[in-house]
Amino acid sequence: MTQSEYKPFVVLGVTGGIAAYKAVEICRQLVDAGCHVAPVLTKDATRFIAPLTFTALASEPAQTEIYDGLSAIPHTRLGQAADLIVIAPATAHLLARYAHGLADDLLTTTLLATRAPVLVAPAMHTEMWEHPSVGENLSILTSRGVHVVGPGVGHLAGGDEGAGRLEDSDVIVGRALEILGASRPTGDFAGTHVVVSAGGTREAIDPVRYLTNRSSGKQGHALAEAAANRGARVTLVTSSQVPAHTHGPGRIDVIRVESAAEMGEAMLREAKEAEVVVMAAAVADFRPSVILDSKFKREQGALEIVLEPTDDILAGLVQARSTDQVIVGFAAETENALENGAAKLKRKGCDVLVVNDVSAEGVGFDHDTNAVSILEADGMSTSVALSSKRTVAEAVLDRVVRHLNSNQGAGHE
Ligand code: CTP
Repeated sequence: MTQSEYKPFVVLGVTGGIAAYKAVEICRQLVDAGCHVAPVLTKDATRFIAPLTFTALASEPAQTEIYDGLSAIPHTRLGQAADLIVIAPATAHLLARYAHGLADDLLTTTLLATRAPVLVAPAMHTEMWEHPSVGENLSILTSRGVHVVGPGVGHLAGGDEGAGRLEDSDVIVGRALEILGASRPTGDFAGTHVVVSAGGTREAIDPVRYLTNRSSGKQGHALAEAAANRGARVTLVTSSQVPAHTHGPGRIDVIRVESAAEMGEAMLREAKEAEVVVMAAAVADFRPSVILDSKFKREQGALEIVLEPTDDILAGLVQARSTDQVIVGFAAETENALENGAAKLKRKGCDVLVVNDVSAEGVGFDHDTNAVSILEADGMSTSVALSSKRTVAEAVLDRVVRHLNSNQGAGHE
C-alpha cells in the first residue's frame, strides 16, 4: 500500500560550544536525507550561532525557550514526536545535566520527555574531555542506551590540538541515519498516526464520588497495541488503568483523562494530525449538571442528581475531520444490534462502525473476548465470531487499511 511517506522527526539539540556553527551543516544534511528537523538551541548556543540560521534551513523554526508563549508544552510535543534526538555539539555541562535528570531548559526537558533514541556528539577541550566527571556522566548515559559519536582528535579552539573535537558532520549524520534505519517502523501502518480512545469516562458527583460504566478499556488498548505493532505511531487517550506492557518501548503515547469533557478535548486536539481516529471509549452520555464542592453527607438525606447530556465526541471528530482521515466508531447495542448499528453508522458519519451486542455471552464490557460486526459506510460488513480482543482489533485494522488505501487513491479492493 502507499502510506504517507515516512519522514523521521529529528530534534537537533545544539549546545553552547565553539563547534555550534558546525551543527548548521548537520541540520542541512539531515534535511537533505529526508528528515523533518526541529532545532532546539540552549541559551549558550545562541551566543555562538543565531537561531535564525537554523530556522532558514530546518523543517520548522528553531526553538530556544520552554516558555515561548506559543505552546504550553513544547518539550512534550518535541519529545513525543521525535524519532531521534541528536545533540551536536554536546558540552560537558549538557552531558552532566542529562545524566542527572536536570530539566531546566527546553532541550533538557525534551530529553526527559522522549522515548526516542538519543545520539550525543560531545565536543570540548581535551582537559575537560579527560576529566573523570565527564567520563562518569557518559557512562551513566551509555548504560541507559544513549548513543555516542566522537569526539575526534584534531584542532581545537585557541590553537590547541587533541581529543575533544566535534566528530565530522557526515559521520554524525551517518550514525543518526543508521539509528533511524534500525528503529524505522515496518508494517502496514508504518508512517501512520493512529489516535485511539479507550475506557469508560468518570463524571464527578462530588470530590469523592463519580458516575461511570462497565467499560474496562481492554478493546481500545488492544487496538492501540495492534496498531503500534503494525508500525503506527499511536496516541492512546484513556480513562482506564493501562496495563504495564502498553507503556513499553513501543510507539504508544498515553494521555490520561477522566471525564467526557477531558476526553473530548484531548481527542479533538490529538486527531488534528492523525490519519486514523478510533473512538473505542464508552463515553458517558450524561454527567451531573452540578459537581458538589464538598462531600455530600448521609445526614443531608436523599441526594438528588440532575444529569445533563455530554457532547458527542465522535460527532465533533467527524465534523472537524480532514478529507483523508479514517474515523472508526463503536456501538454498544443490547437489541437489534445490526439494524441499530447500521442506523448509527449513518447518523454518526464515520467510515467504520464496530458493533457489539453487549447482551451476548462473553461479549463487550470487562471480558477478554468480544464478538463484533464491522460495518462500513460503503455497505461492506464483516463478522468476527467470539475471539480475543486482540483478534477483533486486528480485524478492525484490516478494514481501516482498506479505507486508508482508497483515501490515498491506491490499491482499491
Ligand atoms: N460517543 C462519543 N461521545 C459520546 C457518546 C458516545 O464520542 N458522548 C461515541 C462512542 O465512543 C462510540 C460511538 O459514539 O464510538 C457510539 O456510542 P454509543 O454509546 O453506542 O452510542 P450513542 O451515541 O451514545 O447512542 P445511543 O446511546 O443512543 O445508542
